Amino acid sequence: MKQLVLSEWLLTQLNHSSFPVRMPNHRRIYEVIRRAITTQILPAGERLPSTRRLAEDLTVSRNTILAAFEQLLDEGYVASQTGSGTYVTYNQHDSFSKDKSDSEIAKNKTVTSNEESTVLNSKNCPELSQRGLAACGTIKHQSTVKTTSTSVNNEVQPFTPGEDDYAGFPYALWRRLLNRQWRTPNPTLLDSSHDGGYLPLRKAIADYLRVSRAVNLTFEQVLITSGTQQSIDLCARLLTDHNDCVWVENPGYWAARRVLEVNGLKLHPVNVDKEGMAPSTKDYRITPRLIYTTPSHQYPKGMVMSYGRRRLLLDYAQNVKTWIIEDDYDSEFRFEGRPISSLQGMDQNGRVLYLGTFSKVMYPGIRLGYLVVPPNLVESFKSGLYELQRPGQVVIQAALADFIEEGHFASHIRRLRQIYGERRRLLQAALAPIASVGARLSTVDSGLHLVVEFDSTCNDVRVAELAADQGLRAYPLSHYCMGEKQEKGLIIGYAYAATEHITQYGNKLADVIQSALKT
Ligand SMILES: Cc1ncc(COP(=O)(O)O)c(C=O)c1O
Repeated sequence: MKQLVLSEWLLTQLNHSSFPVRMPNHRRIYEVIRRAITTQILPAGERLPSTRRLAEDLTVSRNTILAAFEQLLDEGYVASQTGSGTYVTYNQHDSFSKDKSDSEIAKNKTVTSNEESTVLNSKNCPELSQRGLAACGTIKHQSTVKTTSTSVNNEVQPFTPGEDDYAGFPYALWRRLLNRQWRTPNPTLLDSSHDGGYLPLRKAIADYLRVSRAVNLTFEQVLITSGTQQSIDLCARLLTDHNDCVWVENPGYWAARRVLEVNGLKLHPVNVDKEGMAPSTKDYRITPRLIYTTPSHQYPKGMVMSYGRRRLLLDYAQNVKTWIIEDDYDSEFRFEGRPISSLQGMDQNGRVLYLGTFSKVMYPGIRLGYLVVPPNLVESFKSGLYELQRPGQVVIQAALADFIEEGHFASHIRRLRQIYGERRRLLQAALAPIASVGARLSTVDSGLHLVVEFDSTCNDVRVAELAADQGLRAYPLSHYCMGEKQEKGLIIGYAYAATEHITQYGNKLADVIQSALKT
């Protein structure tokens, strides 16, 4: 930018930006120049006007400009070379998008999600970093569905997706297993976990996955994490760089998107069809560094990825040397037919990182999950996990290992499968009348939620609000979509509500949907 133009531009910015009243002039000038640098209005290598010249142009004292420049120098945005002036040194790619401009954020938001009604931005929440805004500035699922009823608060409501049957948890048995660990003093259980997690638990998980999910592994490949979010975070941190592209399913799991986005990755939505993730020719033009997918039970739509699609994705990953994150979050709950084998089990080239969680089978607050990494990544992931996250909870890991080894895990899954299968059937029956108003109920026979689809013109957020007014919380399908895609419907969890109440609640929800879609 020409120096005269730059002075004029700075002057306009100074006049039009809203600064706190007490902010001194040098600080305002610093702020405006810093913003110009981080938004690349002043790119790396650009020479700044001399302090004397700038002082004249902005009609401030030279000391004011010197103080502003000093701060920019201290923070590494510029460097001065004796005799030749002050140059911009900051390169956006050197740092995380802490300084992304508002316009850039706005641009990202358009491809990020359709969840924007409660967006925070750096104007209404200036104390947050851009990373912070990405982490908590978009949706809060529960809170986006407004309710007019004062009786409905933030407690879990029937049909809230992602909630388990807490009443059926084997409290007494779990207490006994925990107490057993505490009765035998064992200092290693009090330490952080250094080596990828508690060994007997890693072995128990490896045995379980080999048999139940056809995962191809040795126990060395299993790392214990504090759940899916942490597993994805670790993959993002260790396998990608800022601004790398990641393919995510559309519609898809918003929490996974969140953690990928916070890691500075560019989300590229890939639509799903009845065979799962369905990359188009357009998608193939954007080579991802990671692909996040839920092949055994697409979240939230529920389809199983076809054999053909699996082969396609694996071959593609091998060809372009990308990594696939397979999130196998609820495969324990398949009510009919044979279990679906994992994608990882078909992978001959070590391109798949397989994730699982104990949130569904045990309880979400246990914060334990696992990550199965290809053999060549084991050592790096072990040290990454330790260096970045200092995992712990070893006593709970030990109790969980006993829970699995002594057969309680298998019988607990069997029992839950029976309970959830029954709830699913009852809910499907209660919701059957909604077909009369054109709503389509999913027929997928697995998982812990049902999907009801509406016409694309329907306002599903409004339907969810009407349900919330009745004390029933279901999430609008449109909240799971990104970009242009606007699928409408409801995601209805049935794991939490007691079996004896499902029909009553289901009838109530069917009434809400029918009257909303009729009007
Ligand atoms: C697609 C998907 N993956 C993973 C999880 C579980 O995540 P976490 O292990 O962080 O509890 C959920 C929970 O609802 C989910 O929907």
